[in-house]
Amino acid sequence: MDRYMAPMTEYVTVEDHSVLPRDGTIKLHGPAGFEGMRKAGRLAAEILDALAPLVQPGVRTDYLDDVVRQMTLDAGAVPATMGYRGYAHSSCISINHVVCHGIPSDKTLKDGDIVNIDVTPLLDGWHGDSSRMYLVGDVPLKARRLVDVTYECLMIGIEQAKPGARLGDIGAAIQAHAEKQRYGVVREFCGHGLGRLFHDAPEVVHAARAGTGPELRPGMFFTIEPMINLGKPGVKILEDGWTAVTRDRSLSAQFEHSIGITEDGCEIFTASPKGLDKPPYAV
Ligand code: MF3
Ligand code: CO
Ligand code: CO
Repeated sequence: MDRYMAPMTEYVTVEDHSVLPRDGTIKLHGPAGFEGMRKAGRLAAEILDALAPLVQPGVRTDYLDDVVRQMTLDAGAVPATMGYRGYAHSSCISINHVVCHGIPSDKTLKDGDIVNIDVTPLLDGWHGDSSRMYLVGDVPLKARRLVDVTYECLMIGIEQAKPGARLGDIGAAIQAHAEKQRYGVVREFCGHGLGRLFHDAPEVVHAARAGTGPELRPGMFFTIEPMINLGKPGVKILEDGWTAVTRDRSLSAQFEHSIGITEDGCEIFTASPKGLDKPPYAV
């Protein structure tokens, strides 16, 4: 090719009953999609709310996973992670230097840990994907600051999400905020389109250049889920094939919301009905 061709972004308007394949197009949803995501997102938030009083020193992470599965099933949903690419659990529980995809086990939480719990109920065909950080007992100031700044990164990213903005504006705002504190923004994992599919186009990277990427349009659904390291951004995957940890073993934090672009901004589908969006939860 003798000249550079800008990549084309294609958009497709989704009929509310349809499950289209993952074909690289960005789907634009209508009112029934918003209604479906509102319900799935609310369930994700209610599950994360219910975990707040349970995250205590001494609790096993597979117990917390059992609570997630039971609440999900009781609500008539299924955990989308169960059976996803061979994953066998209802949540991911990532402690301290674990960046994401921590596997629930007989391991117990200890005083001073910071932990991310990530849930994705699939309710009536719609995916509500959200995660929050929890503080276990007395957490040192350095770790609490990382958690606070990571939450700010998510919300600053969400502020950019409106029609006419570019997808890269989200990552640019997140990266600027994190790097101002000399934190590292993880590059290996990103946010993603979702709806009837768990992981769909577009990829929502958390470090980017402003003004780049597809234009945001009403009806787009995607997650923003920045992973921010106290040290360098590098990660590695453990032998189990899932657990991602920081290469330098520094602490890592993450928050995730599922959002939909509206005519004048965005709707957060996974906002906490109890206002427990960031710790301390005081429950
Ligand atoms: N919930 C994660 C996300 O935010 C995905 C977890 S996939 C699993 O995209 F298989 F690791 F559970
Ligand atoms: Co996600
Ligand atoms: Co998630």
